[in-house]
Amino acid sequence: MPSSDRVCVIGAGSSGIASCQVLNARGIPFDCFEKGSGVGGNWRYENDNGMSSAYRSLHINTSRGLMAYRTYPMPDSYPDYPNHFQIAAYFDDYVDHFDFRDKIAFRTEVVAVEPVDGEWEVTVEDVEGARESRRYRAVMVANGHHWDARWPEPAFPGSEQFEGEQIHVHDYREPEVLRGKRVLVLGIGNSATDIAVESSRIGEQTFLAMRRGAYVLPKYMNGKPTDESASAWLTRLPLPVQRFFISRMVGLTAGEMTAYGLPQPDHKLLEAHPTISAELLSRLGHGDITVKPNIDRFGGGKTVRFADGSEEEIDLVVYCTGYKITFPFFDPEFLAARDNRLPLYRRVVSIEHPSLYFVGLIQPLGAIMPIAEAQSEWVADLLEGRGSLPAAMEMKKAVTESERRMRKRYVASKRHTIQVDFHPYLREIQRERKQAVQRV
Ligand SMILES: Cc1cc2nc3c(=O)[nH]c(=O)nc-3n(C[C@H](O)[C@H](O)[C@H](O)COP(=O)(O)OP(=O)(O)OC[C@H]3O[C@@H](n4cnc5c(N)ncnc54)[C@H](O)[C@@H]3O)c2cc1C
Ligand SMILES: NC(=O)c1ccc[n+]([C@@H]2O[C@H](COP(=O)([O-])OP(=O)(O)OC[C@H]3O[C@@H](n4cnc5c(N)ncnc54)[C@H](OP(=O)(O)O)[C@@H]3O)[C@@H](O)[C@H]2O)c1
Repeated sequence: MPSSDRVCVIGAGSSGIASCQVLNARGIPFDCFEKGSGVGGNWRYENDNGMSSAYRSLHINTSRGLMAYRTYPMPDSYPDYPNHFQIAAYFDDYVDHFDFRDKIAFRTEVVAVEPVDGEWEVTVEDVEGARESRRYRAVMVANGHHWDARWPEPAFPGSEQFEGEQIHVHDYREPEVLRGKRVLVLGIGNSATDIAVESSRIGEQTFLAMRRGAYVLPKYMNGKPTDESASAWLTRLPLPVQRFFISRMVGLTAGEMTAYGLPQPDHKLLEAHPTISAELLSRLGHGDITVKPNIDRFGGGKTVRFADGSEEEIDLVVYCTGYKITFPFFDPEFLAARDNRLPLYRRVVSIEHPSLYFVGLIQPLGAIMPIAEAQSEWVADLLEGRGSLPAAMEMKKAVTESERRMRKRYVASKRHTIQVDFHPYLREIQRERKQAVQRV
């Protein structure tokens, strides 16, 4: 029997506060530790936790209807795609509305989590460097997965001698750093398209390099936010049928990607995390962005050589090459997400340590917040004993099957290791909750 009845929540970003809200509502005692001085994680611009990847011009690309917690809608005054200041204010309002701010210890970093005697020893450090360890019956990890920059691995040959500047988009804030420069943006995810568009207005010349093509989806289709068009009923249909409908809609608005000078994607629609941009295609059409294949090498001075043999003089390279999933508070021998892989039951529960839960550690075709909320409700059922988990063997089988499906579905890439479809995954968690109750 654990000596403590308390639960530890690591992080008060949008996932951690969803967990706090649920635990608080159920009367389950908990402590939440947050490294920064406020809630909202990635959405607090210049967050003093030093971890936010938000840049000045960032707006959400999942519409507000889809992104809002099911228990707390975003204000009607908000636009369909609010900016990061509005999103951060919404998270603050959520915490105040449900009145649990006093349960969050700010400026307090979790530095170690270890299993000891059937419970968890959690060590925290305050800003003065003072450390304290406490015991918990369960840990809910919500430390985010978009803060540890992934640079190209291995680095491109000659990158150390390159005389221009190289940054990762994680450290990009204001477009001023692009002004008057010959800028090379690498990648074709949402960061790359945003920065390339920004650079196309202020840089001297902008190159967008990629190792594969992507389907660039608009922010609106038929006058509605795109993710509202791919509504819950559509996701009940077989994947090829969904693909047919979405291809038709994208085809009508944008047509073929090759028409804009982008490479033909080497995969089908819905086989990669969606790249959403209202502006990229028109900036390409205006000739303000030049498409390039992947970087081959840095050729001395400021020269960059591309895979097709062409060369350009570049002042600034912005690597938009994604993020690593990292848990600095676990001994890597105990737990690490090597190559961004971490097998978990229903993407939440550690099979070896079923009182260790991961909240928001998913990459949905849709928003993370309502998913973190649903995951937290399920975990709360387990903590209250209202529901229980299947046997370890059964959980392992389910994990193997879901990983097999993910590998079959998505392009092989470190960015596609925790993908879920928004509506089907929410339904999966609802089903799991019902089954968990029946198991008791
Ligand atoms: C540029 C960008 C744009 C994005 N846009 C969207 C979007 O439009 N829609 C969408 O759904 N998702 C988007 N995402 C995904 C993003 O991950 C989620 O929106 C959201 O931030 C996830 O919340 P989280 O709480 O899981 O993680 P985070 O927001 O990263 O929060 C984690 C929190 O944990 C705290 N923490 C971390 N480690 C510790 C520790 N050791 N001790 C104590 N506290 C700790 C951090 O300080 C932070 O407050 C975007 C991501 C990026 C990078
Ligand atoms: N709200 C918004 O508007 C917004 C803005 C930015 C980001 N985001 C979100 O933030 C998250 C991270 O997005 P992201 O765009 O930063 O990262 P990402 O989705 O992981 O995309 C990384 C891109 O870099 C490429 N890449 C990785 N390593 C490479 C290498 N060594 N050489 C060449 N190319 C390489 C990837 O190609 P492969 O596909 O081949 O691996 C991919 O195109 C996503 O959830 C995204 O939706 C949202």
